[in-house]
Amino acid sequence: MKPPAMFMNRVSPMDDGPREGGGETASSQPNHQVLTVEQDNTGNRARSEMDVLQSVLDMPSNAPKKRRSSMSAAIGAAFTRENLFHASEKEYVKKIYRSDKALKEEQQRQQNIDRFVIHPFSNFRWYWDLLMVLLMAITLVILPINIAFFSEQFSLQWSLMNCFTDSFFMADIVLNFFTGVVHHQNEEVILDRKKIAIKYLCGWFLVDLPSSFPMDYFYLIFNGDSTFNETALKLRALRLAKVLSILRLLRLTRLLRYVHRLEEVLNIEGAVIRIVNLVLVVLVMIHWNGCVQFLVPFFQGFPKDSWVAISGLENASKWEQYSWSFFKAICHMLSIGFGQHPPHNLTEMWCATLSMMLGATFYALFIGHMSTLLLSIDASGRIYNEKINQVKEYMRYRKIPAETQARVLNYYEHRYQRKYFDEAAILRQQSTPLRREIVQHHLRSLVKKAEFLSKCSPSFVIDLIEKLHFEVYLAGDVIIKAGSRGNAMYFIEHGTVKICVDDRVVGTLQDGDHFGEISLLIDERRVASVLADSTCDLYRLGKADFEDVLEENPEMRGIMSEVAKDRLRKIGASVPIEEEEEEEEKELSAVG
Ligand code: CMP
Repeated sequence: MKPPAMFMNRVSPMDDGPREGGGETASSQPNHQVLTVEQDNTGNRARSEMDVLQSVLDMPSNAPKKRRSSMSAAIGAAFTRENLFHASEKEYVKKIYRSDKALKEEQQRQQNIDRFVIHPFSNFRWYWDLLMVLLMAITLVILPINIAFFSEQFSLQWSLMNCFTDSFFMADIVLNFFTGVVHHQNEEVILDRKKIAIKYLCGWFLVDLPSSFPMDYFYLIFNGDSTFNETALKLRALRLAKVLSILRLLRLTRLLRYVHRLEEVLNIEGAVIRIVNLVLVVLVMIHWNGCVQFLVPFFQGFPKDSWVAISGLENASKWEQYSWSFFKAICHMLSIGFGQHPPHNLTEMWCATLSMMLGATFYALFIGHMSTLLLSIDASGRIYNEKINQVKEYMRYRKIPAETQARVLNYYEHRYQRKYFDEAAILRQQSTPLRREIVQHHLRSLVKKAEFLSKCSPSFVIDLIEKLHFEVYLAGDVIIKAGSRGNAMYFIEHGTVKICVDDRVVGTLQDGDHFGEISLLIDERRVASVLADSTCDLYRLGKADFEDVLEENPEMRGIMSEVAKDRLRKIGASVPIEEEEEEEEKELSAVG
């Protein structure tokens, strides 16, 4: 079982040795406790908190007390100040700092500058941000409903919920004064409390404060106040407070900021996630607009010519009111119409105009973003289609016969399988070990099938497959012409080829076989023609690479020569390979 990340992420560069600058810090206390517990249990060996956790996991069932003490030690270690507030050792932080050393230096820098500042990449800030995103998402959906549909009455539940969430948002403001800020120009984290405060006060604080101000506390106070019982005054105050609570919608800015930060940190690039994000934003906009559609006639006191009164929804259930409002908003925003009724008074007309303008803008943005995202999903497919269209146009321009055109398109279809990659360029960009790993992976089916390769040593196979180049031949193509000079040999991944000598088929080769080796071994002309009998996926090994590989693996020459001799005998040709070898042997014995 993998231990929880929380336990693995203890940030304590000082554990490796004595602290720089001496002096015990407050953060060393819990670590000290861990070591003490371990020393008690095991004698004199001081173990890390990972060991502590491991011991918790491996503990026999008859030792509950021991387990409890180790568990609390591990939990204690996980909640040290370093672990919570310093730059965490999570994978994403390691990626940001690019090396363990740089991360440790950052942790040390924080220790030296200000121990009471929260690092923006700390564990605490990570979980806190997640919580805030969740709270913001919930309030941004619920709040407009509260304002638009529950404005006429004071509801204790709503107020309690608002008080609860407002407390978190106020706490967030306080925490923001203690959280380091990433300096966008040099990407360094500002950890100086004064600078952090100035930056925050001059920036987002002005938006964060009104959006978090706990207005519902006043409700609760006034509601309990007996002098505040006059209904009209109370209603007016309630409405004013509701209007003010619209300011909470400014939390959207904070939500966008936090989501952006989480996205950046997690390096989320997936098009699907971005599409989901976009759809959610559009839905939230329609939801807000729906609430506004109802709120405007509500503030007017539902005049007779308002859409709510015409539809007879003044006393309908909240769900029915919301559903019609949502419908009206979606009709405006998707430029479909006015919903159930067109506007009948000036206010509603302006409201519909604004909503349509907003809708049209969002609709245009939505379509634009969506098409970009959809294009980015299948980039290679798109390039393939572009290439194919270009090839088709070219063939029409050159008036290529229909049959050849069909063969060319067939070639593209088979060669690229509707995805176009510049494979050579992609592989060139990789490091050597990565390139080897990729090539070995996509040639694994060839290596499995090729009987010849199964006889070779793994190092030979690795050397060889790096030098292979993929080629496709269609049925009827002449791959090798008898009598020509040999400049490459081939391995068949898929397909069948015919071996022809003087227009006579002397054999066929299939998946896993190889051909074209004889002329390379004896440095003579091709002894036979090779024709594709079906569409063939081949791997080509150039002459120079062939020589290189055999030079480094001389024993392979023997194995390959055996197959070649066999083939030559079959077609009744003389076997110069044997003669060469015999000559070599003679020379060797003469020297001996
Ligand atoms: P090469 O002479 O370079 O080019 C033609 C190839 O056909 C030859 O190498 C062999 O690899 C292959 N070849 C020739 N004869 C046979 C055979 N009888 N069976 C299988 N393959 C053959």
